[in-house]
Parts: sequence; structure tokens; C-alpha cells
Amino acid sequence: MSSQLASRPVPALARSLALARRPPRHVVFARFQSNISPGVVAKASAVKTLPDFSMSNKVCMVTGAARGLGFEFCRAFVQSGCTQLAILDLKEEEAADAARDLVKSACVDSDMTESDYSVVGIGCDVSSELSVQQAFRRVMDEYGRVDSVVASAGIVENYSAFDYPFDRIKRLYDINVHGAFFTAREAARHMIPQGGGSIVLVGSMSANIVNIPQPQTPYNAAKAGAYRRLLSRAEQV
Ligand SMILES: NC(=O)c1ccc[n+]([C@@H]2O[C@H](COP(=O)([O-])OP(=O)(O)OC[C@H]3O[C@@H](n4cnc5c(N)ncnc54)[C@H](O)[C@@H]3O)[C@@H](O)[C@H]2O)c1
Repeated sequence: MSSQLASRPVPALARSLALARRPPRHVVFARFQSNISPGVVAKASAVKTLPDFSMSNKVCMVTGAARGLGFEFCRAFVQSGCTQLAILDLKEEEAADAARDLVKSACVDSDMTESDYSVVGIGCDVSSELSVQQAFRRVMDEYGRVDSVVASAGIVENYSAFDYPFDRIKRLYDINVHGAFFTAREAARHMIPQGGGSIVLVGSMSANIVNIPQPQTPYNAAKAGAYRRLLSRAEQV
């Protein structure tokens, strides 16, 4: 899996240069020691990442997150200090179950308690622009902002190119291409007025190479298309 990152207001080139100029790892570790106040340490044992990757005080949102990679992205956010998070998936009940599981697992071997987290499960079909807009509205009502959005919802199917039913090709594009676009567009609409945020689209090596023997022509094309669309959109924001 590969992911493509679009972020405002730092342009991609400036971000790459900043990363290249980062101090050596041992210096970052030293900062990790010195930056943390005793009060934070008392509540921080759920945090497993360095301050440079901190998501504390950030509102995060992941589509297709009731299971799979989407759920793991949520877990990574929580392990980086995020306590306000929205899990979106087709069925609200499954998203809500995942939200409960995430909070429970975050509290294991940690000083955090369930009341330290606000994690909501929201039913959302990313292939419907209206459904995506409604989900963002609920997140804004709940948290007042959204800082990081991951478009992870996606499907893959295997049919020979000769036999792939057209209605299934359309469905795959509706989710993997249009769904990612609706999600990223809605995220940008909310992030620009608030001064910035991060949008991550989950891509695939299949955007660049043809995996053999999987017969998944539309999936490969969809991932390549979503990548190109991301670059085109990033240039506009
Ligand atoms: N698993 C891999 O090896 C792999 C490799 C490369 C890329 N990816 C990409 O990672 C992403 C997640 O893959 P995964 O392996 O976790 O898949 P998964 O099937 O385990 O999970 C996908 C989730 O998306 C949800 N979903 C499906 N259609 C949806 C819709 N219309 N609206 C909202 N949610 C919907 C499903 O209910 C499910 O919870 C996909 O974009 C996939 O293309 C996965």
C-alpha cells in the first residue's frame, strides 16, 4: 500500500526540503525527552509516537474505517495522541462498534480512560456525494473542525477484463475514484476556511505496476486515476 499526502499550506516541494533538513534521529529523540511536561507524561502512556507526529488536539476522520487498513489508520492516530476521531463506514452500526473497540483497546495498558476519548461511528457511503457531505456536517457539529482526513474506503474485485460486468466496474469507480474525490473535496472545503489540514488518499502499488495474476484491470486504473486527480487538485488548493 502507498498513500499520497496533500497538505495545506505547505507546498509539496517545501515539505520535501523540510524533511530533508530534519536533524538526525538522536536529536529528535532528545527533543522528545525535553518537550514533555510532567503533567502530560501522566496521561501520555497511550502515545507511542514522537512529538513530530503528534495528533493531539487534532480532529481526525477516516472513511472505510470499520475494519482493515482504515481501522489501523485510526489506531495509528490514537497512538499518536488523537482523542477526537470519526470512523466512517457503510453501516453506522459497524462504524460505532469499531469506535467502541478502538477506545477500549486504547485504554489497555494506558493511563487513559474511555471518557478521555470522543470517537464516533458514522454511516457514510462515499460513493454518494450527499452522504459524504452529511457525514462532514455531523463531524463539524460534533467537533467544530476537522484537521486530518484519510480516504481509505475502497473495494477490489477480480474478474477477467473480458467478463467484468459493467455495473460492477461503475460501482468500483464510484467508490474508489469518485468516493475519494468527494471525500477530499469536502475536506478541503472545511479545511481552507479554518486555515489548513491534511488530506490523505490511500493509493496502491497497482497504480504503477500490474500485479500478476490478479485480474483487476478497473482497480488498477482507478488507483492510477485517483493519484493523478490528487496531484491535479493539490495544484488548485
Ligand atoms: N489491503 C491491501 O493489501 C491494500 C493494498 C493496497 C491498497 N489498499 C487500499 O486500502 C484501502 C483499504 O483497503 P482494505 O484492505 O482495508 O479493505 P477492506 O475491505 O478490509 O476495508 C474496506 C472498508 O471500506 C468500506 N467500504 C466499502 N465501500 C464503501 C463505501 N461505498 N462507503 C464507505 N465505506 C465503504 C468497507 O465496508 C470496509 O470496512 C482501499 O482503498 C484499498 O484499495 C489495500
